[in-house]
Amino acid sequence: MNRGGARACSGTEFVAEMTATVWQLLDVRDAALAHLKDAVSRADMKELLRGALRAELEASEIAALWVPVTPELGARIAFARQCGDEARHYTLIERRLHELGGVAGVREAPSKLFRYLSGLGTTVERVAAAQFTREAVGYKANELFIAFCEEAGDRATARLYREEIQPDEKRHHEWGQNLLAELAAEPHAQAIARQAILTTLSLADDLRSLAAGRMLVETVPGC
Ligand SMILES: [Fe+2]
Ligand SMILES: [Fe+2]
Repeated sequence: MNRGGARACSGTEFVAEMTATVWQLLDVRDAALAHLKDAVSRADMKELLRGALRAELEASEIAALWVPVTPELGARIAFARQCGDEARHYTLIERRLHELGGVAGVREAPSKLFRYLSGLGTTVERVAAAQFTREAVGYKANELFIAFCEEAGDRATARLYREEIQPDEKRHHEWGQNLLAELAAEPHAQAIARQAILTTLSLADDLRSLAAGRMLVETVPGC
């Protein structure tokens, strides 16, 4: 049944539409580039990196939770690979934090985004939320964070993000696109995927603003 009255579309068409929507919303954040100087003057790099560690840890943990309970083999392997990649990002960022004289801090309570993701019951929602959407949000956040690091003169952190982390986050989003095209091939799957995408977009901001103590939201790194 086509509940919205619009014509039925293929999984590929659905992903193209959702990709355009998500990136249109995320590109609004480029406005933050105009305020980088101000952000740098107020920033605490160690605090930002601790926020990044939390996002990477949660991204790794949620992917790990889904590996043994995902029947679709392609998605299961993608979650397993992502789990390892995010754990590697955690290790790299923790090393950089130590170089700057910081420590990782204690394990915090799960974010709203983590609680939401861990309650998702279908593979199509999990892929839509955690790979397709959160990875796009993370990629965009990291792009802005790299500009922030360069403005702050922290070339080592900028390089870490540009060369080691961003290629993985881009790939995670692309896995999300490919899997979603397979999994969201009919109206009901598309409806629940769309809802998961919209909810994730709103909760991802909440996680990032918490990480930054409600400052500098646009430049807090993602996962
Ligand atoms: Fe990622
Ligand atoms: Fe990551």
